[in-house]
Amino acid sequence: MTKTWWKESVVYQIYPRSFCDSDGDGIGDLKGIRSKLDYLKELGINVIWLSPVYKSPNDDNGYDISDYQDIMTEFGTMKDFDELLEAAHDRGIRIVMDLVVNHTSDEHPWFIESRSSRDNPKRNYYIWREAVDGHEPNNWGSSFSGSAWQWDEETQMYYLHCFSKKQPDLNWENPKVRDEIFEMMDWWCKKGIDGFRMDVISMISKKEGLPDVPTDGGLYGNCMYGTCNGPHVHEYLQEMNQRVLSRYDLMTVGECAGVTIEEAKKYANAENTELNMVFQFEHTSLDAGPSDKWCKKRISLPELKENLSKWERELEGVAWNSLYFCNHDQPRIVSRLGDGSALSAKCIGTILHMMQGTPYVYQGEELGMTNCPFGPIENYRDLESINAYHELTEAGLRQPEELLECIAYKSRDNARTPMQWNDKKSAGFTEGTPWIMVNPNYTEINAEKEMADPDSVFHYYRKLIALRRFSEWSDLIVYGHYELLAPEDPHVFAYTREYQGQKLLVICNVSDKKVPFQVPDSVSWQKPEKLMGNYEKQALARKMEMKPWEAMVWSIS
Ligand code: NOJ
Repeated sequence: MTKTWWKESVVYQIYPRSFCDSDGDGIGDLKGIRSKLDYLKELGINVIWLSPVYKSPNDDNGYDISDYQDIMTEFGTMKDFDELLEAAHDRGIRIVMDLVVNHTSDEHPWFIESRSSRDNPKRNYYIWREAVDGHEPNNWGSSFSGSAWQWDEETQMYYLHCFSKKQPDLNWENPKVRDEIFEMMDWWCKKGIDGFRMDVISMISKKEGLPDVPTDGGLYGNCMYGTCNGPHVHEYLQEMNQRVLSRYDLMTVGECAGVTIEEAKKYANAENTELNMVFQFEHTSLDAGPSDKWCKKRISLPELKENLSKWERELEGVAWNSLYFCNHDQPRIVSRLGDGSALSAKCIGTILHMMQGTPYVYQGEELGMTNCPFGPIENYRDLESINAYHELTEAGLRQPEELLECIAYKSRDNARTPMQWNDKKSAGFTEGTPWIMVNPNYTEINAEKEMADPDSVFHYYRKLIALRRFSEWSDLIVYGHYELLAPEDPHVFAYTREYQGQKLLVICNVSDKKVPFQVPDSVSWQKPEKLMGNYEKQALARKMEMKPWEAMVWSIS
């Protein structure tokens, strides 16, 4: 297995809107981020993934870009960006940009031109179709409710938008579109950025002929079937790799909705002809309902173990895993798999950070930030949640109260509440009125308090990261072979890692009960050394009683 810096890194995702506001407008910004670099340095991460900071009308909080080469007004200026990049580099922290090129904003000049007439030279930059019998050209639904087609009065045709109608899909079949995108990427690379996280990159090549797709019991066809892993996606990424990526020392991660292991082996192949790694969604879909994610089901631990272990096993040596539980689209893992407690946050962090792959920490995860009690739908800001609420209740498919409970559990807004810096007004996020409500538990869960408490989730994460990045076990933790233990155990997630004579044993009780655990006979040790744990010492024994949420990492070489 080839050793590289991006395999040995720990990434921290920043959702700039909610991270730190320097000018009191209630919206986080680039200067705010810069003021927190020392905090990130102390945590020990060495890569920042910056959610989109480009010019945007903010229909989808920056995932709708109107100028790829300018900065969102609320976030600052290009000078602020350059200063942030320099200040990060000075601290040995790299910056990976979010690349959103499946679609643009409808306010992007390309789209404004494209929609201006049927024969505009940029018409073919997007996906336009005639009506069929006075209707949409197919049954595809948008991921944010409603049809994926928007009728355009001016030119009497439909355009495709897999997300909101303000996010028209680009037509990657047009070589000019690819030229424009690659040039823009090159421009950022020349500026000195360190990589790209590629938004829904698995969706850029649509299925030939745009056929109807299964509805999965929903109101529309699930557009994922018509867009994910399409016929030319690997061709386009190889072209991107040849023309841009391979010319710089970058880290690339593709957000790959609908990706299977077989597909991941192509996207993230070890020959590096496409991307370095992908984000897969199988493990974050284990608690989804039959037709959508709005469901209160809990993740089953045996299913989670089975799934993550399959990815570990299958990609070893042939591709590379990204390790994540949290991001700006996911509810907080400590409220989803854990019980909201610091102990459970530490336990879940241990599971993830000791696996093979590159770990991603989402802002606030290192504090054990939880889901937020938003209350009525009016308190939400996310268009996915708001649209789903109206569409499903108005169609009589769901009862408002029941659906609101599911939204409370699963909404993306849970991840988007302001970062909790201290116990002052608005959790120290802003001097003004925050754009979204602050989680009321900020007086208990906040960075200032946790940095002062050696037993906090923050310091636990710091130690996990240090163990992976700066210890004599670093190679073992990054590159070691993974083996799941006790797959059927309903409460305990245990596994070993092995590398060049070194061996690690990880045991985590993913429950709020005391449970017995027996280490399988296949695992042996002589002088075990405890490297991490969220309780005081308990000796390693064949038969143990694991305390609630107890996590331990042993060197058993
Ligand atoms: C995936 C992003 O992570 C999500 O936040 C966004 O809404 C969609 N792609 C559309 O860009």
